Amino acid sequence: MARVLVGVTGGIAAYKACELVRLLVRAGHEVIPLVTPGAERFVRAETFNALARRNPETSLYPHLERVDLYVISPLTANTLAKLAHGLADNLVTEAALAHDGPLLVAPATNTRMWRHPATQANLELIVARGVKVVGPSEGDLAEGGQGLGRMAEPEEIFARCQALLGPSNSLLQGRRVVVTAGATREPIDAVRFVGNRSSGRMGVALAEEARRRGAEVTLIGSNLAVAPPGGVPVVHASTAADLRRETLALGDADVVVMAAAVGDYRPSEPRGDKRPKDGEVWRIDLQPNDDVLSALGRQSANGRILVGFAAETGEDGLARARTKRTGKNADLVVYNDVARKDIGFESPDNEVVLISEAGERKVEKAPKARIAAEIFDEVERLMETDGGRASG
Ligand code: CTP
Repeated sequence: MARVLVGVTGGIAAYKACELVRLLVRAGHEVIPLVTPGAERFVRAETFNALARRNPETSLYPHLERVDLYVISPLTANTLAKLAHGLADNLVTEAALAHDGPLLVAPATNTRMWRHPATQANLELIVARGVKVVGPSEGDLAEGGQGLGRMAEPEEIFARCQALLGPSNSLLQGRRVVVTAGATREPIDAVRFVGNRSSGRMGVALAEEARRRGAEVTLIGSNLAVAPPGGVPVVHASTAADLRRETLALGDADVVVMAAAVGDYRPSEPRGDKRPKDGEVWRIDLQPNDDVLSALGRQSANGRILVGFAAETGEDGLARARTKRTGKNADLVVYNDVARKDIGFESPDNEVVLISEAGERKVEKAPKARIAAEIFDEVERLMETDGGRASG
């Protein structure tokens, strides 16, 4: 079972945090409550410690404990502002700075405070850093009247905690997983580059899902346009050559997922300076890059599962994806049609076909987090069968 830090800040919804602690304890988790002086005006720390069955004397630095999840419920507009700007003036905010895993917050504020541009800007900042938010919802407010700002119900917060903590029986538990994500950039001169439209969203969702299943994940990110998941170390690799070097260095992982859109070509002679505009035609010679997935596929597999993507357009896409799997010696290839506007590049959704030696399975259009879960279900199936080695 997991260790969960529960931070409680000063709002009337603090009483609902008691129920959250109770639900977490009942699910078998070890809960460490942290209560701000503001929250103590509503519910005493003793109540939370009793519900968590915890003797506060057991740890001198409860806010520095290594935990699987940190949930702050309720989160006041004031503490939200502190989180956004990295202030650490009490146990709850200190813990937020020290914690490098997933953080879930359940805001509870007055409607006008919630709508204030400062609060919304602070919310945007923490979301961009990978913090997960549950609620607030519309309903009766403590000060009277109705509006948006009511904290999510404890059952809903608990369900989100469980989803973030993931299953405890995954085959990926403790396994080393490497995920590449994003779009490589090949310099033309000091300021220009050849790139592509991949945002890295699919790869980030995959890294998050692997972490959720208890894997030790490394994300190799190429110019990510989205926030990497909390608690996952990121190795930055800008060019295809950088990505190749970093990925091969970690190639002995248990699972390698090549979700990055690796540039196939790079300018033959990139300039170190910025080429001035002169009205002339500028011809650029491109030379092929090494294929990282193929290089991994040529290595001895040793039980490692190798997953590639096939970004295709047009009618024969699926057939080409099948050929990519065998040609690159991957265990699993995820085919997606990048010509469609509603899925794939820059979109929150995807629709894929999972191709392995055992067969093919279509996954209907769904958010990328759902697609990531389906991909790792398939990876786990491959791990269960023959160590996943389909060929070679
Ligand atoms: N890939 C790679 N190294 C490259 C190019 C691609 O490792 N230099 C990987 C991608 O990360 C992906 C898979 O190969 O997992 C297929 O990428 P895709 O762009 O669909 O195919 P390509 O092999 O590049 O072929 P084409 O562009 O002709 O479709």
